[in-house]
Amino acid sequence: MQRREFLKTSAIAGSAYFLFRNRALAATADAHIEVLLGEPIATIQPEIYGHFTEHLGGVIYDGVWVGEKSSVPNVRGIRKELVEKLKAIKAPVIRWPGGCFADSYDWRDGIGPRDKRPRRTNFWVDDPQAQKLPNTAVQKFEPNTFGTDEFVDFCHQSNAEPYIAANVRALSPLSFDQWVEYCNSPAHSTTYADIRAASGHADPYNVRYWGIGNESWGCGGNFTPEEYSNEYRRFTAWVPDYGVDPRFVASGPNQDDVDWTTQFFEDILHRRPIRPPFGWSVHNYTNALEALNFNDQDAYSLFYHGTSTEAIIQNMWTAMSVFDREHQTRMVVDEYGPWYGPGTEVDPTHIFGQQITMRDAIVTAFTLDIFNRHAEKVCMANCAQLINCIDSLFLVHEDKFIVTPNFNVFEMYAAHQGAKAVRAEFSAPSISFTDIVKPDRWGPPRQGERSVQRSLNGLMGSASVNGKELTLTVVNPHLADALNTQIAVRGGNAASASATVLASSDIHAHNTFEQPNAVTTKSAQATASGSTVSFTLPPMSVAKLEITLS
Ligand code: AHR
Repeated sequence: MQRREFLKTSAIAGSAYFLFRNRALAATADAHIEVLLGEPIATIQPEIYGHFTEHLGGVIYDGVWVGEKSSVPNVRGIRKELVEKLKAIKAPVIRWPGGCFADSYDWRDGIGPRDKRPRRTNFWVDDPQAQKLPNTAVQKFEPNTFGTDEFVDFCHQSNAEPYIAANVRALSPLSFDQWVEYCNSPAHSTTYADIRAASGHADPYNVRYWGIGNESWGCGGNFTPEEYSNEYRRFTAWVPDYGVDPRFVASGPNQDDVDWTTQFFEDILHRRPIRPPFGWSVHNYTNALEALNFNDQDAYSLFYHGTSTEAIIQNMWTAMSVFDREHQTRMVVDEYGPWYGPGTEVDPTHIFGQQITMRDAIVTAFTLDIFNRHAEKVCMANCAQLINCIDSLFLVHEDKFIVTPNFNVFEMYAAHQGAKAVRAEFSAPSISFTDIVKPDRWGPPRQGERSVQRSLNGLMGSASVNGKELTLTVVNPHLADALNTQIAVRGGNAASASATVLASSDIHAHNTFEQPNAVTTKSAQATASGSTVSFTLPPMSVAKLEITLS
């Protein structure tokens, strides 16, 4: 046999072998993933892995701030263990002071000597959970112990960038200019820089991210889109730069309100054009009644409704592109997560506090996957909220501290930060379930409830590449079935693969102060051969595959 002929024959034999082998694998696999290395999406901005802290319930007081004299280990009053954990997950950015609180907050109350700061009525004073608390509760009447200096210190200790939301409902653009001046004017240049220096911070904070209001269609002022775009102009026109190039985030729609988006962008880019905002804020909570008491149908329903974040991102992007053809503005999903009724908070002062189960970890994980898959559209996201609140990573009270399964998700997904998202296709049998649709998702069962047959994707995830490292994160939302999964790496070979898995045999599983490690990650086996990686995803699990490309 001629050498050429031999090579041809052996190539055919080789491909037949691989084809056969792949068919054999395909026959035994329940699920398939194709990672297309040659189809990059965009760099995943680390800020997609951001957090949110509001003066609400136990988030700031008891959560972040324990005070310098506390027996709880702290650095300048800030909870030490929290900071260590934020560094571990490379928290890139933290949003503050709200939320709805932001549009009732006067930043001047929170600067200068702490013992001289005024007490004010907290935005959340009339919340039913707050009403049960005594009037001495900081959750009702804000002592302003934690202000701008403490927040920036918290960010600096955690290696995160501060993202501050301005009060558009009740303060003026001048007051906003002065807050920027307080944070960013050079040492000893202004009276506010001197006040900052007197608190021990001569050097400017160089805060880049500024939210122009919060939910301006609702608690942030009940504005119409026209009114809000006028406010946006007034608040952002000629704000001093101080060499920081501030990045303004405009207050976007309530969930899928495309009209709000269209009217805002038409106004500021067409009717009377100004510089487009850096970010367009989008909020999307997935509401259900109970954090711990739920059945399989409820879990699938939450998953199904949680995936609406993807459609919202796509719909907003389309609406924005009508006026912002170059896509100068990208999306900032600065509040998201599953949100339940009260009853599972670890302390009565923790308004909106809730337990976090495997169900929430799954929603949080596939939401982060959605952001990765739309890395060209989403430039920041902030999970609501960091600690003792809605979709928290931490539950703490006084000296008790636990991480929730959401923390494990952020820990696993940190590998995506700054990597290049690449297209990946996920296929597995879809999950069919009966969803109970209520006129009001929050409310008790009532007349008008109807059942709808729905279908949920059986496998979700995202992929990114950093040099030779391919990170693939995957969610199996099925509550009973494991997925024997075959991953095809198109355009490369897998030299080795390892897996980390967050799973439990019970979707209700969660950590408590008594059992802090009931849910945690484990290493698992993944097999790499040529361009194929094989791995079994347990039921109701989140997994990270780290694949080294050759
Ligand atoms: O995160 C709790 C609240 O939800 C925020 O204050 C507000 O922005 C949203 O409605």
